[in-house]
Amino acid sequence: MSNTWWRGAAIYQVYLRSFADGNGDGVGDLAGLRSRLPYLKDLGADAIWLNPWYPSPMADGGYDVADYRGIEPVFGTLAEAEKLIAEAHELDLKIIIDVVPNHSSTASAWFQEALADPAARDRFWFRDEPNDWQSIFGGPAWTQVPDGQWYLHLFAPEQPDFNWDNPEVHQEFEDVLRFWFDRGVDGVRVDSAALLYKSDTAWQDLDPVHDVYRHWRRVADSYDDRVLIGELWLPDQESLARYLRPDELHTAFNFDFLSCPWDPHELRRVIDLTLTTHATVGAPPTWVLSNHDVTRPVTRYGRADTGFAHGGALHGTPSDPELGYRRARAAALLAMALPGGLYVYQGEELGLPEVEDLPDELRQDPMYARSGGTNPGRDGCRVPLPWSGDEPPFGFGGPSPWLPQPENWRKLTAEAQLADLDSMLNLYRTGLRLRRSLLGDGTLHWLPSGDDRVLAFTRESGVTCVANLGPEPVPLPDGEVLLASGRLEDRLLPPDTTAWLRTT
Ligand code: NOJ
Repeated sequence: MSNTWWRGAAIYQVYLRSFADGNGDGVGDLAGLRSRLPYLKDLGADAIWLNPWYPSPMADGGYDVADYRGIEPVFGTLAEAEKLIAEAHELDLKIIIDVVPNHSSTASAWFQEALADPAARDRFWFRDEPNDWQSIFGGPAWTQVPDGQWYLHLFAPEQPDFNWDNPEVHQEFEDVLRFWFDRGVDGVRVDSAALLYKSDTAWQDLDPVHDVYRHWRRVADSYDDRVLIGELWLPDQESLARYLRPDELHTAFNFDFLSCPWDPHELRRVIDLTLTTHATVGAPPTWVLSNHDVTRPVTRYGRADTGFAHGGALHGTPSDPELGYRRARAAALLAMALPGGLYVYQGEELGLPEVEDLPDELRQDPMYARSGGTNPGRDGCRVPLPWSGDEPPFGFGGPSPWLPQPENWRKLTAEAQLADLDSMLNLYRTGLRLRRSLLGDGTLHWLPSGDDRVLAFTRESGVTCVANLGPEPVPLPDGEVLLASGRLEDRLLPPDTTAWLRTT
């Protein structure tokens, strides 16, 4: 098995609109990101994954791509993107971009052509009659055009689905991959990767999609050490592993881990299943606690139901902030210690909570409007980051960020947390630094703990990770404590706490 950088990498997700605003217009941009590269380097990231940065009407935060070879002017220019790639590489940070192959934007040249000329519609899904499919964002999955035909959009109406039975679509995306690999991009996160093909009765996980990735793999392999990462929400790990066969995608997000409740038995089950199924195809497991689509861990883990539910089902249910914060710290050290790749979503390292009280009129996620307001959408995890200072915009840039930040985020700024040795930010910094030398890719060996509410395992480096999910403090094994997510007393590990020890 080859040993390449992405197998054990810590990949930091930048949601560009909300990361840092370099020109003061209230929207994060490439200038803001470039100015904060040293922060990401010091944090201990190995790579940065950016959500879509292409020209877009922003009907779905940029996942409605109008031009796959350009940069959204609000974010910057292609020349700036090239500078970002070069500057990141100088700091030994890899750059991963988002490619969206399932759907495009109604503003794209191809779709405009299709609207103007019914003979140019084969690149999309046009039909004389719609079926009864519902959009993932709510409401019908079909929209009618003025001449009476309907087009399919599994997401918002502004996101028409491509027809992958058309060879031009294949050619286009292979060209797009080359376009960005030629510019030095180190990897691609493949959006909605299981969708693409549709039959009369099914719209995901159809066999021909695997051939697409076999071709993409050949493109990636014709460059030096590039990675293809799948965004695959599938019902089971076996289906996921089929996308990770040696000639398909390299790796994928582990959403079973992300969605798993804070429960020792469930976690143990998901970890074991992940390790076993990934081993069958030789792909590294990954560990993900959050991203731009899901409730922030601090809020999730403070609720009675600690799992993640789509559709905002748990939105607004009571969450104990201290409990959630303690568990999020423990979960972070658990995830960092597991073998494979790690994803950190911006703000996770600051322990930001979900912002659940955004005024409805400011919500921008199409899920909110399309569900008739029953689903609050994902804006609550996309609020611009607090960098410094005592009041909004907390150093984000410009006087008014595109979504308002809570006034009480002053203690959560990166500046305030850098000065506090016990902060979440310093836990991530220390954890990621130790992880780089002692953890990452490899295997684990479970240790008998005498209490099935305690998860304990050792890694090849001799580091042992112990996570206590039970209600009582438990004694730690012998060894030097390297890092703990909470205060230890008399070598006792408190509830909802994880510690790393050097045991050999
Ligand atoms: C998954 C992305 O993560 C999400 O933000 C987006 O809305 C859908 N795919 C559609 O592109």
